[in-house]
Amino acid sequence: MSVTLKLATSLDGRIATAAGESRWITGAQSREQVHRLRAAHDAVLVGIETALADDPELTVRLPGYNGRQPARVVLDSRQRLTPDCKLVKTARDVPTYVIATEDPSPALLAAGVKVLAVRAVGEDRPELKTVVKALAAEGLSDLFVEGGGQVAGSFLRCGLVDTIEWFRAPILIGGEGRPAVGALAVAALAEAPHFRRVEVTALGDDLWERYARG
Ligand SMILES: NC(=O)c1ccc[n+]([C@@H]2O[C@H](COP(=O)([O-])OP(=O)(O)OC[C@H]3O[C@@H](n4cnc5c(N)ncnc54)[C@H](OP(=O)(O)O)[C@@H]3O)[C@@H](O)[C@H]2O)c1
Repeated sequence: MSVTLKLATSLDGRIATAAGESRWITGAQSREQVHRLRAAHDAVLVGIETALADDPELTVRLPGYNGRQPARVVLDSRQRLTPDCKLVKTARDVPTYVIATEDPSPALLAAGVKVLAVRAVGEDRPELKTVVKALAAEGLSDLFVEGGGQVAGSFLRCGLVDTIEWFRAPILIGGEGRPAVGALAVAALAEAPHFRRVEVTALGDDLWERYARG
């Protein structure tokens, strides 16, 4: 099982403005590289706030690409994903999972979405170690986590992130923007999750940094 966290941020680590505008912080070359990384994973995972705010497809869209599409996974305790969003509308073409804490909603099932009920822990959210195991049982063992900040924070807090793919654009959004990583409950620096940089590549005006745990 491996978990990769993708962050596409401003220089000051913001993933959206205060109003939620996030398209596009990084440049075309970074976005193309994100599509290549998606293609190398079994599943792409986002939180429900990202699914509702951006209505993403989370598919691999590269010129000439006709390989397999990774499954899409939404962490959505209360099944707020709506039938009119792209993920639900295309669920019969690309496997789409909702991770909930309750019994599957008939509307999502009817649209072809697979709902996995995972027991909740604090804040009534699905417990991530169980989520990862449930996805592995579906044959999805290489996860590409694309945010948002709360979900990134939860995966890091649980110690589940093996690799960070960080795309950094040369703009500043400021403190009122949305942070790339939500609360980590770090009380002392010694407790901070630690990563080592293993690669840096310039992509146009952006930097693409890869970090490995440890
Ligand atoms: N720049 C980028 O590349 C990028 C990428 C992604 C997102 N974004 C932006 O980020 C913003 C959304 O980020 P966000 O931090 O507000 O929300 P988020 O991380 O996308 O979603 C958070 C929601 O996911 C659900 N959830 C279920 N299990 C969870 C768990 N274990 N840990 C955390 N959340 C869990 C919770 O809702 P329930 O309690 O209802 O389950 C929670 O409110 C949007 O503005 C989007 O545009 C930017």
